[in-house]
Amino acid sequence: MKRSVIIGCGSYLPEKAMKNAEFEEFIDTSDEWIVQRTGIQQRHIAAKGETTADLAEAAARRALDAANVTPDDLDLIILATSTPNNTFPATAVEVQHRLGMRHGAAFDTQAVCSGFVFALTTADQYIRSGQSKRVLVIGAETFSRILDWEDRTTCVLFGDGAGAVVLEAQDGIGEASDRGILTCHLRSDGCHKEKLYVDGGPSSTQTVGFLRMEGKEVFRHAVGMITDVIEDAYSATGKGSEDLDWFVPHQANKRIIDASAKKLKIDPSKVVTTVHLHGNTSAASIPLALDTAVKDGRIKPGHLVMFEAMGGGFTWGSVLVRM
Ligand code: UT7
Repeated sequence: MKRSVIIGCGSYLPEKAMKNAEFEEFIDTSDEWIVQRTGIQQRHIAAKGETTADLAEAAARRALDAANVTPDDLDLIILATSTPNNTFPATAVEVQHRLGMRHGAAFDTQAVCSGFVFALTTADQYIRSGQSKRVLVIGAETFSRILDWEDRTTCVLFGDGAGAVVLEAQDGIGEASDRGILTCHLRSDGCHKEKLYVDGGPSSTQTVGFLRMEGKEVFRHAVGMITDVIEDAYSATGKGSEDLDWFVPHQANKRIIDASAKKLKIDPSKVVTTVHLHGNTSAASIPLALDTAVKDGRIKPGHLVMFEAMGGGFTWGSVLVRM
């Protein structure tokens, strides 16, 4: 059977790093509160005129280099974002153009913070059905553009960034010892819309809108939803927490990450946490964390890695992959 093997990854953060203390100048908050409640120490903010496509392109080029392939070798680009350059066309198409790719196809997916997991799952379907040989999957966001900078309950939490992976079709034997994506589990439930949404859009208000969140409510649901889809991955593969080499969760809040790992009995030493460095970058957070742990040598070929995410919608999902 065909497996979707990650043959390279890359990431990009805008140059400007904004420390927690900078918020103290214009809202009623403190470095201490932000670190204690979230683990976040800083986030990166895109420069004036720097767009989601810019971040995505930079991460994509690094992933292509790491995979030692060129855009000619790709047949599909899937870009996960909730902060596209334009309402249309898809930001993926702009990235396709910038990479000089005139063949194949490119499209965006939108599942907010679960976007990368949804995009990876979609790419895996294309590869396993034989429709694609190599797929570039990108998560890229400029959440700083949709924040209400006067709302202390949200503006301290998010940041800008991008991460990308190149997936390649390789033959496997259909066992959990195969390299590549072993199983994917996606969920959504629209009844939770009001807990995390953007209060604008082309069809409703003809404005871009601002992010609105009932943080406590999101937090209350997060751990249960995350652990459910991870248990689905264990059931599908016969694997368990003890078999994981690494847990690479969506980076929203260190308390959610720690509570999920604890509930699943995943050893803290196996958890990749980068939220302190870039805050919640939504669809970009998993590939940013993955790239960090690949580059610093923690994640190696053959390692069993669990990705999970939960976000607006609500949407949530898990992907179990052998590197
Ligand atoms: O990617 C998925 C999307 N998002 C998430 O996963 C976020 C999920 N939620 C969270 O991470 C947490 O709920 C937050 C970090 C947003 C908030 O932490 P919390 O422990 O749930 O705090 P809280 O909302 O219960 O607020 C506690 C207090 C409140 O004051 P009162 O009502 O007790 O007087 C807030 O007004 O903290 C206040 N507060 C702040 N204080 C200083 C809220 N934001 C701030 C702030 N600085 N930035």
